[in-house]
Amino acid sequence: MSTNPIEILPHPLFLTSPLSEVQEPKEYKYFGNLDTLFAKTDAAEIVASNSDGEFTVIKKVIDEFLHITHDHCSGNPDQESSVYIQIRMTKPTQNWRIPRWHHDGRYFKPDPSCTEGGKYVTTLLGPPTLFLKPSSTLSSYALRDNEEWKNAQRESGNEKLRKIVDDALKEEERVHVPFGSIVWFANMWKGTADGSAAVHSEPDMSDSDRVFVTVMYGSEVEIGDLCHSWEVEYQV
Ligand SMILES: [Fe+2]
Repeated sequence: MSTNPIEILPHPLFLTSPLSEVQEPKEYKYFGNLDTLFAKTDAAEIVASNSDGEFTVIKKVIDEFLHITHDHCSGNPDQESSVYIQIRMTKPTQNWRIPRWHHDGRYFKPDPSCTEGGKYVTTLLGPPTLFLKPSSTLSSYALRDNEEWKNAQRESGNEKLRKIVDDALKEEERVHVPFGSIVWFANMWKGTADGSAAVHSEPDMSDSDRVFVTVMYGSEVEIGDLCHSWEVEYQV
């Protein structure tokens, strides 16, 4: 298991964005069997119909993203037979001018027999997710018993609290994420060999449309557990 909570996968998903414009904010989510997702076309249809992208190109990019990330997962096929995918299409917003530095928490009860968890992200259009490089100063700041950090986590919409944290982390180096890259990062609950998790944030998207894609794999029991806590249907 890695000790780095952030990994940029070796090959970019694409060099040129498969779309250049989003019509309106829209979200797609799917929870269920991975093979069923490959057989479905609704994710690509939603993205293509809400942008200037072509359906066949979008479907190819989404499928490629799933293939690459699923191959990268270190679990066995049974452990990673299920998936949670989210595609978030947004118009420019002022919401993220101040970063919301945070760790991701626990999404589902981890199956003890499963290996590394974590999440994969990419951006089909617009700026990539921000990540801070792991450092000793960062890990000694981003702790539950640090009031500044804790308060900003509790009230993530509060820009004053976010600003305090952002100022405190100003000297921390950001990870350069080349456009079109796929990033894997560790959550709080599973973390890495040394228990660390990635500190990340939405990027400033005040002047660009954005299409963000994230995926998590798990066993049927794990993704089923997520469905149970979010009260959504697991698709077989
Ligand atoms: Fe997050």
